[in-house]
Amino acid sequence: MPELTIAVAKGRLQADALALLARAGAVVSSAALSSRRLALEDESGRYRFIFVKPSDVPVYVEHGIADCGVVGRDVLLESETDLLQPLTLDIARCRIVVAARTGTSLRGLGMLRVATKYPRLAAAHFGAQGRPAEIIELSGSVELAPVLGLADCIVDLVETGATLLENGLEEIEVIGESTARLVVNRASYQLKAAAVATLIAALEVAKAQVSNLD
Ligand code: PRP
Repeated sequence: MPELTIAVAKGRLQADALALLARAGAVVSSAALSSRRLALEDESGRYRFIFVKPSDVPVYVEHGIADCGVVGRDVLLESETDLLQPLTLDIARCRIVVAARTGTSLRGLGMLRVATKYPRLAAAHFGAQGRPAEIIELSGSVELAPVLGLADCIVDLVETGATLLENGLEEIEVIGESTARLVVNRASYQLKAAAVATLIAALEVAKAQVSNLD
């Protein structure tokens, strides 16, 4: 019976998160990983992993279906869930930015049309600036919106900058930085204190080992 269930965000941070967790003693076999199974146990049998969409990680952890999760700060800023965040992981480093078509100015526009996967974050950002904004929520490929005239700008993640560049967009403003976080359910933190503390300590060691390699 696994001691802890860990929800891992599928996609951009999954490979680095699993590599770090493996260093911390939670090793998923390559055979298991190459399957399409969305829930599996690590080799020690102490951990169960579930692989879910990034925005669903906080939901599974808040409801206690998963005790812990690994997810980007961007997702946590957008989520309204109440989770503990005991550890920042130095993986999936990226920026949350406002971007628009290269050479265009957002000055002088009345109501700004903003396409994004982060509606709360975007609304809070422009709200804090006192800038009227219509938030247009999309699920992905957000860079298309200014190109096709759906929006004046986007709020999105930038990692290498390649997607912006290849779609004729440029960064206008950095809203914040994001890396992956370990999140923990509040009840699990108390009721499974020893197992959670062991995982956090092992991840801290793994994180230090990886940063020494850089
Ligand atoms: C993210 C983000 C950008 C891209 C940025 O999308 O929304 O589109 O990555 O990365 P880059 O700066 O390295 O080019 P993701 O790959 O998560 O897919 P999505 O657009 O379907 O959400």
